[in-house]
Amino acid sequence: MNILLLGSGGREHAFAWKIANSPKCTQLFVAPGNAGTLQIATNVEDLAVTDFEGIKRFVLDHSIDMLVVGPEEPLVKGIVDFFEKFPETRNLPIIGPSQTGATLEGSKDFSKRFMKRHGIPTAASETFTAQSINEGLVFIKSQPTPIVLKADGLAAGKGVLICETHAEAEKNFKAMLLDEKFGEASKKVVVEAFLDGIELSVFVATDGESYKILPEAKDYKRIGEKDQGLNTGGMGAVSPVPFATTSFMKKVEEKVVKPTVKGLKEEKIKYTGFLFIGLMNVDGDPFVIEYNVRMGDPETQAVLPRIKSDFVDLLYAMGTGRLSNYQIELESFSTSTVVMVAGGYPDVYEKGNPIEGLNTAQKDKVLTFHAGTKMEKNGQVTTQGGRVLGITGMGNNLEEALDKTYARTREICWKDVYFRKDIGQDLLNFGK
Ligand code: AMP
Ligand code: GLY
Repeated sequence: MNILLLGSGGREHAFAWKIANSPKCTQLFVAPGNAGTLQIATNVEDLAVTDFEGIKRFVLDHSIDMLVVGPEEPLVKGIVDFFEKFPETRNLPIIGPSQTGATLEGSKDFSKRFMKRHGIPTAASETFTAQSINEGLVFIKSQPTPIVLKADGLAAGKGVLICETHAEAEKNFKAMLLDEKFGEASKKVVVEAFLDGIELSVFVATDGESYKILPEAKDYKRIGEKDQGLNTGGMGAVSPVPFATTSFMKKVEEKVVKPTVKGLKEEKIKYTGFLFIGLMNVDGDPFVIEYNVRMGDPETQAVLPRIKSDFVDLLYAMGTGRLSNYQIELESFSTSTVVMVAGGYPDVYEKGNPIEGLNTAQKDKVLTFHAGTKMEKNGQVTTQGGRVLGITGMGNNLEEALDKTYARTREICWKDVYFRKDIGQDLLNFGK
């Protein structure tokens, strides 16, 4: 099977690694890819993930049998609907939801309404615009603190503010609606009750009819240790998550996964692909914080190594509506992923620094996933983004996985490299 994968992050290197390892894959192309995908696939560097015409031409020219979409942007912009318009691409299996399906991530207001319609547990909320700002301010005053404000649209992970006081909430609420604090994204603002609990990420593969729950993960979003400082795309992840017990996951399946898949079907929203559910565990009960319509990054780097059954078979079963026949087999080991970033990230950081130590003999039970990397003409790999590498270690338990991960981080270096040293530490003694 010839497969085209869209994206260039660590998530996509993990996808590429899993796909390339399958005997079902003949040729794998990654557009645009990174220095890691280059080693296991053919990069199509000049093909942007939102160049739908270009992607269609590439699919037809290279007899692509399946298109796998990594990031949300092409989905929110309607790549699936675009391919459906043309008879020559209509039947191509695509891993990713329709544009309406992608609105579950593209609009917080849409996703909150969806959850309310289908009785899916989530924090109470109301949505306001510049026209209803006065009602919004009255509503904020009536709510207990902390108060959560969310820009409706995509805001590169920065559109959520947790306000400790009413004054702070009112100031930010006005800035979002009147001064477009988050640009277009904050033309609508969701005002939400604060949920006090522990977060985890649950991943679901679906063909629109049936679903498979993939291994769950916990990610670490803040730049600093002990979850301090600015939010990032994600600094690390672990899987499995000790507090995701069998009974908790059963509740997630019954109260969240089933009604979500059923709700999409009832509303005739075409959804083939991954659904990433950000959940808060509040005293043993799951509440949805957000939906994403793709896999997480860096959670994918921790989750995919734990899938034992053939990954291309899984993707193809999703893409062709035959997921109910697919038997998913999981590995029992633990994984931990640590993201190595360029110093200064998530603010300003340098690019183009040579990465040393990538070619030291990789030890057993550790994977080095590239994210923001580039292969220079002289063969040197350099830094090209904020999040540069994701190191995934595997072990019989979290402690062993972390040992493998951190041993590998010590072999790799570049100017101003930074990574958190405390990934997974909060979970090591869980339940002991
Ligand atoms: P989101 O962009 O929706 O993932 O939100 C970013 C982060 O804000 C989440 O990962 C949570 O840590 C936090 N958050 C979002 N909504 C709530 C809420 N209702 N209560 C508590 N924390 C929240
Ligand atoms: N790690 C969070 C995300 O991918 O959105």
